[in-house]
Amino acid sequence: MINVAVLGYGTVGSGVVEVIHKNQEIVNKKAKDEVCVKYVLDLREFEGDPVQKILVHDVNVILEDTEVDVICETMGGVEPAYTFTKKALMSGKSVCTSNKELVANHGSELIKIAHEHNCNYLFEASVGGGIPIIRPLNASLTPEKIIGITGILNGTTNYILSKMAAVGANYEDVLQEAQQKGYAEKNPSADVDGLDAGRKIAILSSLMYGKTVHYEDIYTEGITKITAADFVYAKKMGTAIKLLAISKDLGNEYFAMVAPFMIQDTNPLFHVNDVFNGILVHGNMLGNTMYYGAGAGKLPTASAVVGDVIDCARHIGKSITCFWDEEPLALTSIDNARRRFFIRIQGKLMEQRSQMESLFGQADASDELKVIEVPEYPEEFAVVTPVMSEKEYKEKVAQIRGFISMIRMEA
Ligand code: HSE
Repeated sequence: MINVAVLGYGTVGSGVVEVIHKNQEIVNKKAKDEVCVKYVLDLREFEGDPVQKILVHDVNVILEDTEVDVICETMGGVEPAYTFTKKALMSGKSVCTSNKELVANHGSELIKIAHEHNCNYLFEASVGGGIPIIRPLNASLTPEKIIGITGILNGTTNYILSKMAAVGANYEDVLQEAQQKGYAEKNPSADVDGLDAGRKIAILSSLMYGKTVHYEDIYTEGITKITAADFVYAKKMGTAIKLLAISKDLGNEYFAMVAPFMIQDTNPLFHVNDVFNGILVHGNMLGNTMYYGAGAGKLPTASAVVGDVIDCARHIGKSITCFWDEEPLALTSIDNARRRFFIRIQGKLMEQRSQMESLFGQADASDELKVIEVPEYPEEFAVVTPVMSEKEYKEKVAQIRGFISMIRMEA
């Protein structure tokens, strides 16, 4: 018998109990043992819910019970989850989590503690909800040097951008609708400012390099400045606007960033819409592989947690190898990152064409400056620059009169 305790009976925690109960037979078969939820920890009461029979309010009941093998930490936030996780691992209990904040802040340390105590700290659900991405990076892709990861890692912002593209609505109106539908939080900052995606790409980058990438070092922009006008241009250009989390190994330079990008329909992430997530991993031997699915939500996220529980059950007394050391990886400034830039400019193209060409080269020559005008916005125009570094872009854009906004382009 594998005894499980669930810390936090919120959306994901209650999903874990539901997945284990609904798929009990298959879970037992795959775990090669009977998996039983012995405790649920929560400060609240759940009168009328069968969980009440196994509900405890004191974490020590769980930590001191030698029969508990695996803990699902679905509380979220750094504390008290960090303290509870450390204590559990130190007593040899494996911990499976959906808590990206805790993994991004203390992942390497908790993995190390787990391995020192012959147990596991697994976190498949912390990135991409139900999408398998941590295990592929840790297991299937081990012969690869991963040279790039590009992901749509936040469902809320992908929903907002997809809706803006589909109906031509403003950011504020779609955000409000997303909040009413329960997709976006009342305080949406973590999602719309790109912080959630930043934590997730920090976790994936750490696994990519085997060293710690701190999310605070990642250049992060959110989607709050994207407007309905940007989508009018995007439609004319046949592009999509997506919040991308990007991590690239350039050999001697490593950069990671989160920002809105315009992408072409040849990019596999072009078709990742609504609340879905997509993650494109580029290996030096394999090339691209893509991981797609429900990046959030009760049962998909809980399913990933239960997948980890089964892995722990199969490895009782043994630790599963995970390459993520505490040694920090110094990211390079994005100043040297090279790409095209989409820029909107106030004024008439006719009058400013020569300045654009003196800054960016001849218009519409192959691989050079592209100019775009749309009838909906006759008082402005847009350009797509040739490939240049962020630094060059900043120097050139400072000389443009009537600059409105910029969106980076990714092939
Ligand atoms: N707020 C997150 C999202 C939840 O929208 O993707 C899943 O981590």
